[in-house]
Amino acid sequence: MAAAEAQKVLVYGGRGALGSKIVDYFKSRNWWVASIDMVENKDASANIIVKMSDSFTEQTDQVTTDVGNLLGEQKVDAILCVAGGWAGGSAKAKSFYKNCDLMWKQSVWTSTIASHLATKHLKEGGLLTLAGAKAGLAGTPGMVAYGMAKATVHQLCQSLGGDNSGLPAGSAAVAILPVTLDTPANRASMPNADYTSWTPLDFVAETFFDWTTGKSRPKSGSLIQVITTAGKSELVPAHL
Ligand SMILES: NC(=O)c1ccc[n+]([C@@H]2O[C@H](COP(=O)([O-])OP(=O)(O)OC[C@H]3O[C@@H](n4cnc5c(N)ncnc54)[C@H](O)[C@@H]3O)[C@@H](O)[C@H]2O)c1
Repeated sequence: MAAAEAQKVLVYGGRGALGSKIVDYFKSRNWWVASIDMVENKDASANIIVKMSDSFTEQTDQVTTDVGNLLGEQKVDAILCVAGGWAGGSAKAKSFYKNCDLMWKQSVWTSTIASHLATKHLKEGGLLTLAGAKAGLAGTPGMVAYGMAKATVHQLCQSLGGDNSGLPAGSAAVAILPVTLDTPANRASMPNADYTSWTPLDFVAETFFDWTTGKSRPKSGSLIQVITTAGKSELVPAHL
């Protein structure tokens, strides 16, 4: 199928653990997949390399321009934002300000840019996903920066689900709220953990594929917790 006619998806954070899995999953189904990340994903059909910056507006302008140049008038079926990160520490931590700065950049900046890109490049009836965290539904005194950033992502998702949010007609914004994903980095840092309570990356990739193709897609603005117990993963809507 020619690239101009193929079904298309943008994966923001497409070089991360979950992002790489999503790129592979859609590629294996013959989709055109562009990765937006600080690092190239060689398996993607195209790459937008985000330049490190301390200026939010500089980064927004770079990514928005580069995606505009890549897509032109073509629309995509989904924008899946799985960029993010984690940092621990209370408000007393030496690294508190630094961690906050990093969490804004990794979760809030990326989700914000992905949302605006959706207003420009998503098809009518398309899907935008954002990456929150179950922990961000309540206070997180031992990881304040992370909790604040993820709570912001949840609020953004709810705003996008409201009337006149700027998203194309019939499209949906849905946030996933994982607990712990079964990634190589988590395995390396928690070698003695109970892996049967961690969510396999394939489960999330398959869920996104289903939602993108219209199967069991939650309504716009939904916050969907991803809960894994005894090796079984479930999608549980959060009601605030
Ligand atoms: N891993 C977990 O256990 C877990 C738990 C709850 C929530 N989450 C969230 O799920 C998502 C996926 O997790 P993961 O483990 O795959 O993360 P990861 O750290 O493996 O990947 C994140 C990717 O985002 C990219 N990124 C960061 N800042 C960026 C920016 N400004 N512009 C472009 N790309 C940027 C990184 O380069 C990286 O490739 C993240 O949002 C994470 O916070 C993860």
